[in-house]
Amino acid sequence: MNKTELRRHMRRQRRALNRRQREQAARHLLRALRQSAHFQHSRHIAVYLTNDGEIDTSVFIRDLQRRGKTLYLPVLHPLRKGHLSFLPFNRQSRMVKNRFGISEPDFAGHRAMPARFIHLICMPLVAFDKDGNRLGMGGGFYDRTLAFSRQPGNKPRLIGCAYELQKTAALPAEDWDIPLTAIATDAGLHRFQAYAE
Ligand SMILES: Nc1ncnc2c1ncn2[C@@H]1O[C@H](COP(=O)(O)OP(=O)(O)OP(=O)(O)O)[C@@H](O)[C@H]1O
Ligand SMILES: [Mg+2]
Repeated sequence: MNKTELRRHMRRQRRALNRRQREQAARHLLRALRQSAHFQHSRHIAVYLTNDGEIDTSVFIRDLQRRGKTLYLPVLHPLRKGHLSFLPFNRQSRMVKNRFGISEPDFAGHRAMPARFIHLICMPLVAFDKDGNRLGMGGGFYDRTLAFSRQPGNKPRLIGCAYELQKTAALPAEDWDIPLTAIATDAGLHRFQAYAE
């Protein structure tokens, strides 16, 4: 399968899950995330809202809110095309729909948090492999936004969130793909090379 076929296949697979399977997977995802010391020790954490059949993040978002973490959501950068910016997210956040129909905090009146100061970024993905390579929706948004993390200096830990069924045999790693620290699924936490760094 090429990348386009693989995306179509995986998006169909996850959409086929029923409500009970989704709810159970969301609880197991939280359990997997809690296995990570990075999840426990990080204070500034970027999350994402579930879209397109992605694994439900609402259970772990509520858990993080209860623990008093400072949360952020990605928004399409208003000026830098193809980039994301991270805005604070809490119960008072005013939400708007972006051009993909995805809810994001309203940019107006907010100060974005530079990605290098976020301790942990939980990111969606369409497929992953055993080495932590990630296939996203194909826009390159996370790759562009996190390209800085190849250089020395502050960098966020990156944890992909997905259903275990999104795991596939080796994915082609492109030069611009940013390797993940770990991937949390309903089956547990997959740790990669960058995990211990
Ligand atoms: N750092 C970068 N600078 C410029 N273009 C980039 C960069 N990273 C990715 N791109 C472009 O984005 C396009 C899509 O990349 P890719 O197929 O890896 O997306 P993806 O990882 O599936 O998407 P996303 O990160 O939005 O979930 C590529 O064709 C590539 O040219
Ligand atoms: Mg990519």
